[in-house]
Amino acid sequence: MPDNLKNEFDFFIRSHTKFSRKNYCGETENPESKYVFDILSRHVKPLKKEKLSVLDVGSKNWAYVRGEYDFFKSYCTFLRLDGVEIDAYRLYSNLYSRYEVAKFYIKNLDGVSYYADNLLNIKREYDYIIWLLPFVTIYPHKKWGLPKKFFMPEKLLEHAYGILREEMFIINQGEEEAEIQQELLEKLKLPYRCEGEIKAGSSLFKTPRYGFIVRKH
Ligand SMILES: C[S@@+](CC[C@H](N)C(=O)[O-])C[C@H]1O[C@@H](n2cnc3c(N)ncnc32)[C@H](O)[C@@H]1O
Repeated sequence: MPDNLKNEFDFFIRSHTKFSRKNYCGETENPESKYVFDILSRHVKPLKKEKLSVLDVGSKNWAYVRGEYDFFKSYCTFLRLDGVEIDAYRLYSNLYSRYEVAKFYIKNLDGVSYYADNLLNIKREYDYIIWLLPFVTIYPHKKWGLPKKFFMPEKLLEHAYGILREEMFIINQGEEEAEIQQELLEKLKLPYRCEGEIKAGSSLFKTPRYGFIVRKH
């Protein structure tokens, strides 16, 4: 079966059946959370406010949510932290879906919600948007099992900017993806700053990562 037809078919089945084992239970201490807390502390400097709203785009199973939560919570009294993931019902080999795993990670975190949805359907505005590893080339998008029709990096970036109030932090994997990301930012004429290579206290990943801060006018 051609790749895209397979992805279309599988995506349709999983997003309609929403099949998963229930009540996933894993490790609460997650190294990805520490990494995310660390990189946010180095690159994002929110002003203290009573209320902050934050969106994480492409949250996968949101294993790193605690890092975002602890970081932004230290700048406000009331935090609304939303995660959006288009392929929330993708199954792991243990037959838990990303959605079910995410439910475990957001348990007991006040004001945190995970949406099984397309970013394009998110209409409310957010003070901060965190976008870790967007697909900017078709190859990883396909490899992750997504149908081709959802590959629209420019439209997604434009939409994210449209619902942004203050700052968006984007991280890309590898130089090539970072260059493509920069071209997209240029093409859309968005005001951005290159953060260069993103370093963290503990290096979890082999491929270097690069960051951009996009600011709302
Ligand atoms: C490379 S993964 C990054 C996952 C996670 N942010 C991380 O750092 O581990 C990109 C994620 O974006 C999701 N995604 C792609 N297009 C999306 C869209 N239009 N709306 C929401 N999520 C999307 C994919 O399904 C995938 O889980």
